[in-house]
Amino acid sequence: MPLDLILMGPPGAGKGTQAARIASERGLAHIATGDMLRAGVRDGTPLGLEAKAVMARGDLVSDDLIIAMFRERLGADDTGAGVLLDGFPRTSAQAEALDGMLDGLGRHIASVVVFDIDLDELVRRLSGRRVCRAAEHVYHIDFHPPKVEGVCDEDGSELYQREDDHEDVVRARYQKQWVDAATPVLDYYAGRGLVERIDAAKPRDEVARAVDLLIDRLDGGS
Ligand code: AP5
Repeated sequence: MPLDLILMGPPGAGKGTQAARIASERGLAHIATGDMLRAGVRDGTPLGLEAKAVMARGDLVSDDLIIAMFRERLGADDTGAGVLLDGFPRTSAQAEALDGMLDGLGRHIASVVVFDIDLDELVRRLSGRRVCRAAEHVYHIDFHPPKVEGVCDEDGSELYQREDDHEDVVRARYQKQWVDAATPVLDYYAGRGLVERIDAAKPRDEVARAVDLLIDRLDGGS
């Protein structure tokens, strides 16, 4: 049975950092809707043009657009062993659409891993975050610096600061996207007994150990 997991948490909780590692170690497809949208902005696609201003404000992109983009991605060849969802679903409509898509494939969500962390730590993490232009590899100027300042270790591309990582936008994203929009999604999954929580304020290695233990348990039981 494919292992389909959702990583949920406020902006900057470390979902992308863990998801990239886990996906490559376990052969799962890492589907990050934020990365897909930023690629659209970079390439000037119609999707990217529509999403650019919305993302810069810290608002959510429309459900119709996100669901259509996700549906196409889920149909790709690399999703057979399972998917690690990072940034999707973020609304009840997206969660219901996801269930319908997985149902149609005879699959289901095995667990929703929630990254718990407070707002002050998020601001600290996001103000120091740098990502690479080529492939969104993630760094932090203090907690996870690249070997050469401003250059991605993996692909040599330039590192930049995301437009939505400025403190005012981080606070807006936290309130609108986590406190307001994510609560009904969490309730939806909690009602089905799928929610597991980890302490995401710990250092990267400790967070990695906690997530790995959880996935090992699920993988063994699936
Ligand atoms: P998206 O890109 O998904 O942003 P996000 O959820 O806000 O998450 P982030 O990428 O900001 O954080 P993360 O948890 O992955 O943290 P990271 O690992 O980088 O979405 C962007 C925008 O797109 C949204 O605002 C919205 O507009 C739109 N969008 C996307 N999906 C959508 C959807 N489904 N519906 C509607 N709109 C959608 O880590 C953060 C920093 O901390 C890094 O510098 C990292 O090095 C560091 N770090 C990580 N772990 C640790 C640790 N344990 N200790 C110390 N530092 C750490």
